[in-house]
Amino acid sequence: GRDLLGIEGLSAGEILGLLDLAEEFVELNRQIEKKRTTLRGRTQINLFFEASTRTQSSFEIAGKRLGADVMNMSVASSSVKKGETLIDTAITLNAMHPDILVVRHHASGAVALLARKVDCCVVNAGDGAHEHPTQALLDALTIRRNKGRIQGLTVAICGDVLHSRVARSNILLLNALGAKVRVVAPSTLLPAGVESLGVEVFRTMEAGLEGADIVMMLRLQRERMAGSFIPSVKEYFHYFGLDEAKLRLAAPDALVMHPGPMNRGVEIDSSVADGAQSLIREQVEMGVAVRMAVLDTLARKLPNA
Ligand code: CP
Repeated sequence: GRDLLGIEGLSAGEILGLLDLAEEFVELNRQIEKKRTTLRGRTQINLFFEASTRTQSSFEIAGKRLGADVMNMSVASSSVKKGETLIDTAITLNAMHPDILVVRHHASGAVALLARKVDCCVVNAGDGAHEHPTQALLDALTIRRNKGRIQGLTVAICGDVLHSRVARSNILLLNALGAKVRVVAPSTLLPAGVESLGVEVFRTMEAGLEGADIVMMLRLQRERMAGSFIPSVKEYFHYFGLDEAKLRLAAPDALVMHPGPMNRGVEIDSSVADGAQSLIREQVEMGVAVRMAVLDTLARKLPNA
């Protein structure tokens, strides 16, 4: 379609097509001259209602490398602060004829709602606990480049699955490409009915990490836990934090991932985050390439492309 709202609805062929195109951009991004012209003359607006380091900056770099004029809307200094609604903000920006809107919002479904009100392409840069499709794509690209495949790998997604759009998009994508997906978390941090997403559920790291090829850690999203159960950091790290001893339970050649931002000493120990098995910095590099692939693919569907 015209938008990228989630991994849900993408076929395995479409996912692989985006990963293959992203491989070309990985090479381009390592050159001195990094510019393409697919988005020349196009306007991209990044509209982030939630904080971001990686996603917003990589969408900006990706758009610029493809030749777009990129504008970052800072919600902190926008009329959202004066009570303007999401929809009025969207309609206002739409009147300026952007070609691509990249949107992050704290409510699940908000980006899809906004997409129905505007004429341009919309890319979901994370909506509530629902989806973060470009994160799953960059994670898949990172896995494929390091393991040579995704099919048949055992991927353990560990930690705060309940609040994680990253977990949801990754489960959908990894299942679509034939990986065996586990979630590893205390019951309080698992969404009801998570099994129906096609995952095996483990409630201890000892059981869940055994033989895993990929250990994907999630941030403990304490800001989304107001009024509900908030685990103590010390206790959480003891049982669910990834340290060197727990990592030894995974396959000997297991690789460690984290979407960022990391809470060192909460869900992951620094020695693992910065260790030889960590792919965390490579994930960030792949983020730019994947977002270029997504923008390039959407740009080819724009009117008069
Ligand atoms: N992984 C991720 O979405 O990071 P940011 O919140 O920094 O964009």
